[in-house]
Amino acid sequence: MNIIHLSAECYPVAKAGGLADVVGSLPKYMKKMGVEAKVVMPRYATDWIHEHQFETVFEGDTPLGAGQFHYKIQREKKNTLGFPLYLVDIPERFDRPGIYIDPYSGHGYWDELERYMSFQLAALDWIHYSDEDPDLLHCHDHHTALVPFIITRCHRYRGMEDIPTVLTVHNAEYQGVYDRGAFSLLPSFNYSEVGLLDWDGKFNCLAAGLKCCWKITTVSPSYMEELSKDGDLSLLYHSERHKSVGILNGIDTDVWNPKTDPYLEKNYTLKTHRKSKLKNKKALCDQFDLNPDYPLISYIGRLAHEKGADLLPDLFSHFLASEQSVNFMLLGTGDRYLHERFNQLNSRFVGFFDAALDYNEALAHLIYAASDFIIMPSRVEPCGLNQMYSMRYGTVPIVRKVGGLKDTVKDIGDEGGYGITFYDFTHHAAAEAVQRALSLYSDSKGMNAVRKTIMKLDFSWENSANKYLELYRELIND
Ligand code: GLC
Repeated sequence: MNIIHLSAECYPVAKAGGLADVVGSLPKYMKKMGVEAKVVMPRYATDWIHEHQFETVFEGDTPLGAGQFHYKIQREKKNTLGFPLYLVDIPERFDRPGIYIDPYSGHGYWDELERYMSFQLAALDWIHYSDEDPDLLHCHDHHTALVPFIITRCHRYRGMEDIPTVLTVHNAEYQGVYDRGAFSLLPSFNYSEVGLLDWDGKFNCLAAGLKCCWKITTVSPSYMEELSKDGDLSLLYHSERHKSVGILNGIDTDVWNPKTDPYLEKNYTLKTHRKSKLKNKKALCDQFDLNPDYPLISYIGRLAHEKGADLLPDLFSHFLASEQSVNFMLLGTGDRYLHERFNQLNSRFVGFFDAALDYNEALAHLIYAASDFIIMPSRVEPCGLNQMYSMRYGTVPIVRKVGGLKDTVKDIGDEGGYGITFYDFTHHAAAEAVQRALSLYSDSKGMNAVRKTIMKLDFSWENSANKYLELYRELIND
């Protein structure tokens, strides 16, 4: 079986969020099951790309609106990732310092549609006009969601319409919405089909993908349910539910392994976690001037509305200003206003709180190992990987009960539970959850039992990769 993934991100080549982790690990696990999967992504100006060697395997020109552009398809020479990686090189669109966002202005690039449309067209040109003969195209999020429309409706790609397509929704908040005039960038198609590209009077790439793909997947079952109940595309998710399924993401247990993780102060296993986690905690506390004798609750992630990061400043202050001994740590970037709030907390609670307003993969690993708890107050969480990473490192998750968080964390109050959950997106509910975490921490036997339970849970891809395999088989044999 020969699958091609089309994605805007892939770890470690270029990462902005969890999409990269999934696209960087799923193909590895599928390979173990005998599925050949390639990843095709844009050639950005990332360090990883500069440090690796590529060979051009195809090049050509393809139309974009009234003009045309030149592209190259380049294969990574050494197969470093364990699966074939192909870059679509369109220098005028992707040779820039950011992935989606211009780091100088903090805003998204002005030509987002042209960037990802040209990426998709070039990739499809290559597949169409070379010897590539995929059994299925697997698209991820709105950046590649036009593929199902293009191969079934655009005349230039005639002959590709029988290739099955899967569209995985990792984040439905971003849809790729533009004015209808932008339809004209697409290669010619029968104008009577234009409705497929439209949602609510706009050109909506994600909606077009949902309508035209063979199968929709979301990255957790609960997220699928939530999408068809609530939100601006809920009607569409609801009407396409016959071809939809939620498949929980797995994690890359090679990259996320406390036994071998090169970023830790001290590696550990289930047997040695007690002492060694403490060593990691001491190292982190040293670095950020915190107190290793206090419980440490950390947040790692984008400082974005969806992630509920705006709930944190008041929540942290509430506990920091109280009599209780507790430390908080935060790692992430995003909303400038939140940067300011966290900077204020930094100076107000020296020795009790520290915010690293940064994107730092190595530090993230150490925080997972060193913390006692990870907090995720997400408004929306399609799957969430951080709670799974944290549990593998014996760090107890405190999560809002939505999407994938609901599917992966069972409250300690329920039978067999091992995490702390809350439902209402309010200061009160979150504070109550943190209070429960502090009580658990003070009961060292209970805390240790929970740690052991979570370290034994299996969030590897094995399970989910099988579900994808079944789905691929069903579509290919159809
Ligand atoms: C997005 C979602 C996150 C999910 C990830 C991988 O980043 O916000 O919940 O885990 O994609 O699918």
